Amino acid sequence: MAELSHRALRELIEGFGGCEEYFTEMISAGALLAGGPFEKWYIDNGPAPEKLVFQLVGADSEQIARAAAFLDRLDCAGIDINMGCSAPIIRKKGAGAAWMASIDRAGELISSVRPAVKRRLSVKLRIGFKDDFDYLVKFCRRLEAEGTELIILHPRTVMEKFKRLARWDYVGRLKQELKIPVAGNGDIASAEDLLRRANSSCDAVMVGRAAVRQPWIFAAAQALSPKSTNPSSVPKALKALSLLETGLRFLELLARYQPPEFHISRARRFFGFFCDNLKWGNYLKNLMNREETLSGIERVWRGYFEEHEE
Ligand SMILES: Cc1cc2nc3c(=O)[nH]c(=O)nc-3n(C[C@H](O)[C@H](O)[C@H](O)COP(=O)(O)O)c2cc1C
Repeated sequence: MAELSHRALRELIEGFGGCEEYFTEMISAGALLAGGPFEKWYIDNGPAPEKLVFQLVGADSEQIARAAAFLDRLDCAGIDINMGCSAPIIRKKGAGAAWMASIDRAGELISSVRPAVKRRLSVKLRIGFKDDFDYLVKFCRRLEAEGTELIILHPRTVMEKFKRLARWDYVGRLKQELKIPVAGNGDIASAEDLLRRANSSCDAVMVGRAAVRQPWIFAAAQALSPKSTNPSSVPKALKALSLLETGLRFLELLARYQPPEFHISRARRFFGFFCDNLKWGNYLKNLMNREETLSGIERVWRGYFEEHEE
């Protein structure tokens, strides 16, 4: 997730016991090839390169193929192509969800990226521009035929953005139509949700916003799972969960693993979700949004817990 799923968040999640795979925020193929000043931060594959999937966004298949070849040479678990981003600024360039407008164009993209990637090649997408399941199946079958190895479906249409609930039944139905695995994504709000979806008809579950609100969500789901009924399997970090400490730890990680130019925007993004754990969270977000330095944000964060010990 843009400005969210960088190394500092991954480190935080790893501290709670981790999850099976991490996806980077979308990396612009063009900016990566141009060698922009911040690219090294986008391609930081820590703390667990073997679990990291680089996600690429772009509109030009030749550029995406070259960027994919570059990333494929780094330690990682796979390369993912973003065909789901509905933000107008991305779509209008022909990138993100714009790929879903044409089966041929998307197929040609995968056919040019495939030879460049030795690792797992996946595509993250939405239902499409219309709520048309048959189109989605045709689209995904073409991606599969061109060598895509995993589809991650966020089952909303492009225009819905975050409106309505994600149509999880589409995940199971799509899985029936394809030979390759299908992961589902959307609206997981708790460890219970995560477990329920993981036990439903899909091959994997991707968690977005809830992994920022509750970086312990994967550990909590693990602990809830019938496979780990032994209470000693509840991670230590989870037993001693402190929101104050977690927020402070995130600030420390942010300072260590992101460039100063990104500190404020990333801190605001993170706390924009993390404050949802707190009573008066919106008020706190507003206070934080007025701060211009990480130390200012830390002062506001500590101040909240001094005022609200409960
Ligand atoms: C701030 C923000 C940034 C996002 N950036 C990306 C991105 O870079 N790539 C991507 O595939 N999806 C991105 N998404 C979409 C999420 O990956 C996910 O599909 C969506 O939030 C639904 O899942 P959730 O309900 O678990 O959050 C972003 C979402 C948010 C809220």
